[in-house]
Amino acid sequence: MKKIFFYLSVALIFYSCNPNNGNLQISSPDKKIELKFLVNEKGQVGYLIDFQNKRVIDTSYFGFDFKDQNPFGENLEVINSFTSTFDETWETVWGEQRFIRNNYNELKVELKEKSKDRRNCYVVFRVFDDGVGFRFEFPEQENMNDVVIVDENTQFKLTGNNICWWTPGDWDIYEHLFNTSRFSEIDALSIRSHKELAQTYIPENAVNLPVTMKSDDGVYLSILEANLTNYADMTLKVDKENLLFQSELVGNDAGVKVKTKTPFATPWRLILIADKATDLVSSRTILNLNDPNVIENVSWIKPTKYIGIWWEMHIGKSTWDMKSGKHGATTENAKRYIDFASKNGIGALLIEGWNTGWENWFGTHDREGIFDFVTPYPDYDLKEVVQYAKEKNVNIIMHHETSAAILTYEKQMDTAFALCKSLGIHAVKTGYVGQILPDGEYHFGQWMVNHYRKVMEKAAEYQIMLDVHEGIKQTGLRRTYPNMMSAEGLRGQEFNAWSPDGGNPPEHLTIIPFTRMLAGPIDYTPGIFDIKFDKYKKENQVNTTLTHQLAIYVVIYSPLQMAADLPENYFGHPAFQFIRDVGVDWDTSIVLNGEISNFITIARKERNTDKWFLGSITDENERGIEVSLDFLDIEKKYTATLYEDAEDSHWDKNPTAYKIESKTVNSTDSLSLQLAPGGGTAISFIPITK
Ligand code: NOJ
Ligand code: CA
Repeated sequence: MKKIFFYLSVALIFYSCNPNNGNLQISSPDKKIELKFLVNEKGQVGYLIDFQNKRVIDTSYFGFDFKDQNPFGENLEVINSFTSTFDETWETVWGEQRFIRNNYNELKVELKEKSKDRRNCYVVFRVFDDGVGFRFEFPEQENMNDVVIVDENTQFKLTGNNICWWTPGDWDIYEHLFNTSRFSEIDALSIRSHKELAQTYIPENAVNLPVTMKSDDGVYLSILEANLTNYADMTLKVDKENLLFQSELVGNDAGVKVKTKTPFATPWRLILIADKATDLVSSRTILNLNDPNVIENVSWIKPTKYIGIWWEMHIGKSTWDMKSGKHGATTENAKRYIDFASKNGIGALLIEGWNTGWENWFGTHDREGIFDFVTPYPDYDLKEVVQYAKEKNVNIIMHHETSAAILTYEKQMDTAFALCKSLGIHAVKTGYVGQILPDGEYHFGQWMVNHYRKVMEKAAEYQIMLDVHEGIKQTGLRRTYPNMMSAEGLRGQEFNAWSPDGGNPPEHLTIIPFTRMLAGPIDYTPGIFDIKFDKYKKENQVNTTLTHQLAIYVVIYSPLQMAADLPENYFGHPAFQFIRDVGVDWDTSIVLNGEISNFITIARKERNTDKWFLGSITDENERGIEVSLDFLDIEKKYTATLYEDAEDSHWDKNPTAYKIESKTVNSTDSLSLQLAPGGGTAISFIPITK
């Protein structure tokens, strides 16, 4: 695909002013959001935000604590300030929409200490129509060279006891269910003992990002970060007394949060603001706060559907290791999957458990050197499988489970990616199960942030797309590195296969679009048809109906979208037609309706075709949803095929009942959808050509 940037309009107007007291303000292009910058009598600097004349973030201050240096945050004066306006529309390589408008007003404030250190820093605010991003930039300067940050103290002061959708501020994993509670009821420490997780460390009452909120006057807010580069992941400490979230960076056991040098900048701290929950989901501001694509040739970057030798391990039909006698990744089994993919237009196959080491990968400290990412098990002929796949027009997705032995992986990376390249493989799924080796580091600390970046860059060098499990949360870097396709970063479908707490409840995916998905694409691995899989495991099940599983192909966005169930559960299944048809790369996405933790409906138009797809899901409550089809192209007629819950469908009592109906529709029509408890509707709209 050729990289084309459309500049509809670019306006850069710089001017500077020199105020005495530093009370500056700037508003969004549509004037609905207003940001005020302030300096108090102690010389502390901060900000507050109004939205539609209502305060949504109250006076909040900034500050940094350093090792071997005085804290930075008091006695500051404004030296200078600059404002500017920016407006451009750029084209995505792939994504939820083809063109994205990047339009903001910027205020850049230069600060200097009045005390003898005379250190300086810029605070940069960008105010968009849907939120505010800000970051700190420390230029090169005499009294600040090497820097060790032991705390960043950025505040987000709330204006009331907001309802929050939050996960605990775990330094090692994001795979926790979202909790819904008032700010004052957040209790991350009560979630400390999650036995089913291989790694978890929750040092205090803090939340991970994104955290989404609703105020009593109906304003929705979500706090995220953008462009996390050479820095630590930010969690937010819950300060109930002062009604504020305060940044708490992930550190290591040496007490270091960030080790760097001037000049450096923090990631963007981003607050999305909307009066409708659905508008949060439509925001692309996280991408606008990242740099443009640096990969020149993107012809090898292709969104795709894929199947995998994967679910069969999670439900216990087979294993990753060979010792069990039930090895899943055999040449023969891989060929069976390839045949299936090829017959059904599924572009790729993931094969896990193909390389030696799985006998000892888990539950031991001694994990260095276990995997080498090039040595297949003897019953798996890598070359033969790749050749067979090529003949059948199916791509292979390579699997690198690092078991969090980072030094081993870094040592092997070149060799491992070179093997992919020699085989014509352009996609790798990575995994980081277990506590990080070397000891004392955590999954989301600066050291690991830099590791994930190294992998991204190295993969780009070898023309490899990435799907990262157990990695750092997404911060919009996919704009700069469009080979960073998808990531886990949440409780995925796999929890339904084995979690002792019964898996993901029916409401799970009605929260995710408004929280985790604001950060970026999700490899949730949808499409389980054998909902109860009693043949393999009686104690677990998927907690949705079958058509809810279909709807999430549209609701949960990923450019690598899995058809996760076993081929034998799809053979001859009428509902599988939706998975065959559904797109993975979009021209337009429209969030039609939704309320956090209740329901959501999204329609997306496929890129380079005129097909539309719609997904609607509900929580454990049945629901009627009216949908106007006015998003369809006015001049076209479509065959709409509806995959719906049956009258008696129920996520637990009758999850596999469904009906399929086809009708001719156009943009003046509307549909009344009936969603069962834990249910969903998926619709394909295929244009009728004359
Ligand atoms: C956890 C990942 O989330 C899952 O997809 C994978 O199958 C296992 N680790 C093994 O690597
Ligand atoms: Ca996982």
